[in-house]
Amino acid sequence: MVILGAGPAGLVLGNLLHASGVDCVVLERSTRAQVQARSRAGFLAANTVRVLERHGLAEGLHRRGREHATCEFRSEDGRFRLDYGTLGRGERHTVYPQHELVTDLLTQYLDAGGRVRFGTEALTVRDADGDRPSVAVREADGRTGSWQGRYVAGCDGRHGAARRSLPPGAVRRHHLDHGVSWLGLLAEAPPSLDAVGYAVHRRGFAGHMARTPEVTRYYLQCERGTPPDAWSEDRIWDELSLRMRAEEYGPLRRGRIVHRAVVDLESDVLEPLRHGTLLLAGDAASLLSPSAAKGANLAVLEAEILARALVDDLVHGSAEGLARYSAQCLAHIWRAQEFSQWMLRLLHGAPGPDGESMFQDSLRRSRLASLGTSRSCQDWFAEHYVGV
Ligand code: APR
Repeated sequence: MVILGAGPAGLVLGNLLHASGVDCVVLERSTRAQVQARSRAGFLAANTVRVLERHGLAEGLHRRGREHATCEFRSEDGRFRLDYGTLGRGERHTVYPQHELVTDLLTQYLDAGGRVRFGTEALTVRDADGDRPSVAVREADGRTGSWQGRYVAGCDGRHGAARRSLPPGAVRRHHLDHGVSWLGLLAEAPPSLDAVGYAVHRRGFAGHMARTPEVTRYYLQCERGTPPDAWSEDRIWDELSLRMRAEEYGPLRRGRIVHRAVVDLESDVLEPLRHGTLLLAGDAASLLSPSAAKGANLAVLEAEILARALVDDLVHGSAEGLARYSAQCLAHIWRAQEFSQWMLRLLHGAPGPDGESMFQDSLRRSRLASLGTSRSCQDWFAEHYVGV
C-alpha cells in the first residue's frame, strides 16, 4: 500500500492501516521538519476528535487543545454572538494548531513502526487501471526510483502527483471560482476577541480566528491579484480595525505580522474519487474555500472511511467498502461545499453590476439578520458549522 503525502489525510490513513496490520509506506516530498512546521487551520470538528479518539490519536489534542464554541458577527446592522455549543447538536470545536496535530500523527505512526520516506517526491502513478500500480519517485539526492503496492492513496493535496496522474476523462472536475481573495495573516498578538470574529463591511470582509494565546490569524478580503506584501503593517491593522468596527466594539491587539499569504477562494470536487487502484482523499479529492475551516476535518473523515474500506479488502477480502468509497465521501464533501458556499455568500457582497450587487447585498443583510434572530436558523448553522 503506497500513501502519497504526510498531511492529515495521509497520516491518519497510515496510522489506521498500520494498526490493522496493513503494510504501507508514506512518500512525502518535504522533510520531517517542514511537515511539522507547516502552520495551517486549527479548528477540529467534534467528529474529527471522535475519529482521532477512536484510534488512540487524540492524546495531544486533549492535553493542549482548547474547546471553542463562540462566534461573533459584525456588520452595518450591529453585532451578535452565537454560542454554537448550546445550539444544534451542542457540538464544539477543538482549537489545536494543525502542525501540532500533524506532529502527533507522525510521531505515533513512526513510533508504531510505520514507514515514511521524507524528501521523496512522487512524480507519477502508473498502472492504476491494473492491480499492481506503481509510483515513480525522485529522491532528495535526485535519484529516481519506483514504489509498488496493491493500492495507491493520493493524499498529496490539490497539486500532487495523484491528481496529475489521472488519465483524461477518468474523473470529472467540478470547479467554482468564488471571485473573492483573502489576505491571510498570522500576527504575533493575543486574540482581540474570545470568539471567532466575522466582520462584514462595504470595504470587504475581515476575519479573526484565535490560534494560540500568543498568535492570532486574521483575514482581509482584497482585490484579486494583490501581492501579499502590498500593504504595510500599519495599513493592515488600520483596515482590520475599520472593518471590525474597533471604534464601536473595542480595539484590536496589534503585533508583528509573521506570515502573509493571499488565497483566491475557489472550490473543486473530483468525481469519482477512485480510478482503479488509485484512491483520492483530502485536498487531492476536493478543495474547500477556507470560509468554514473544514478542509482538515474532511481529510480526517475521508481517511477513516478509506482505511476501513482498504482493511475490508486487504485483510477481509471484501471489495464492498472500496466500491462504496467514492459515493460515501462525496455525500460528505458536497454538504461541506454547500455550507462553505453559504458562509461565503453570508460574508461577502456579490460582485456584479450595481443593481444586481445592491440586490445581493440586501439578501446578504437579510441572511445575517435571520442568523441573528431565528433560533431554527441558528440551530441549522451550528450543526453545519461544527459538523462534517
Ligand atoms: N510527492 C510527495 N508528497 C507530496 C507531493 C508529491 N508529489 N505533493 C504534495 N505532497 C505532500 C505535501 O508536502 C503535504 O505534506 O502531500 C501533503 C499534502 O498535505 P495537505 O496539503 O495538508 O493535504 P491533506 O492531508 O489533504 O489535508 C487537507 O489540511 O492542510 C490542511 O486545511 C488544509 O484543507 C487542507 C487539509
